[in-house]
Amino acid sequence: AALRSVFQDDFLIGVALGSRVVGGRQAEAETLAARQFSSLTPENEMKWQALHPAPGRYHFEAADAFVAFARRHQMQLVGHALVWHSQTPAWVFQDKDGQALGRDALLARMREHIHTVVGRYRGKVKGWDVVNEALSDGGPDLLRDSPWRRIIGDDYLDHAFRYAREADPQAELYYNDYGLEDPRKRENCLKLLRGLRERGIPVDGVGTQSHFHLHHPPLPEVEKTITALAGLGLKVMVTELDVDVLPSRGDPGIADINRREKAEPALDPYPGPLPDPIQEVLARRYAGLFQVYLRHRDAITRVTFWGLDDGRTWLNHFPIRGRTNHPLLFDRALKPKPAFHAILALKGSS
Ligand code: G3I
Repeated sequence: AALRSVFQDDFLIGVALGSRVVGGRQAEAETLAARQFSSLTPENEMKWQALHPAPGRYHFEAADAFVAFARRHQMQLVGHALVWHSQTPAWVFQDKDGQALGRDALLARMREHIHTVVGRYRGKVKGWDVVNEALSDGGPDLLRDSPWRRIIGDDYLDHAFRYAREADPQAELYYNDYGLEDPRKRENCLKLLRGLRERGIPVDGVGTQSHFHLHHPPLPEVEKTITALAGLGLKVMVTELDVDVLPSRGDPGIADINRREKAEPALDPYPGPLPDPIQEVLARRYAGLFQVYLRHRDAITRVTFWGLDDGRTWLNHFPIRGRTNHPLLFDRALKPKPAFHAILALKGSS
């Protein structure tokens, strides 16, 4: 059975792909992605660095291939991401002499980028991650420190959403962030989104990335986040789902997921196939998550996996390059794992 048809009355089921698959160089992976998924997100190819690496120079080839792929396979295309502190070249924030740009100049640059990119894909991209990861991970401030905020001020988000709406009035506009299951960050996210709405900023949906672990965050926190975001009247999307199976410090039930990035480098505990007992834990974890998603199918419009298979996941390179992670539904041979069957079983399918 195929996820995209089994869940078609519930939500879109998406996948993030890179340009090797989308560029047609990996036929087997393309076939699997097309059969299973109804939504497509470019993992890197629509980021500022990829599209607009130097002043006045745009590279659209890789991104255009996603438009063609999505059309060919009847997938909805998600644009990721317009304004982010990461994967944005340093020149964006500097003038010709390498001095920091002023507020008006940076706003003009942001507007030009958004109009060029969103304008080009008008009618082809269903929705955009307009601002990605603006919230701080703790600390007194709502927003994280970034050149966008330092130069423009806290209203940089307002402008980004307005520019995107101007450039394509039909596209859905999203705020996207991670770690929203942490109660403090969840509250901050609600505060941010309420503020945007009160100021009349055009935001249609919110993405909770959902880079999870086997035992963290707990399902009740996952559900609280979805309920709270849906309560704002926004479309809710699970935008970057994966489940890191490698042991992390304090596991299970680590107190603060943000601390994990500073955890001791674990070695490579499962360099071969994932042992059966862990496969089962992973399957139960995914089934638990999808039970929550199905309970909220009225609010959730899309669930996107951040990668197709265990051979194609950023988690093989983060936080340490070259580890063997197993976070997705398909293994390195593109075979469905027990987690895949566990999700289908919730719908009485196999
Ligand atoms: O393309 C180069 C390649 O030419 C070079 O040989 C190689 C060696 O380092 O690097 C390649 O670039 C890498 C790129 O992924 C493509 O694979 C970058 O180093 C690497 O930093 C980049 O990582 C991406 C990461 O965002 C960047 O922050 C991941 O693929 C991508 O999955 C990840 O996605 C983010 C979302 O956009 C936002 N939310 C979190 C999520 C996971 O970090």
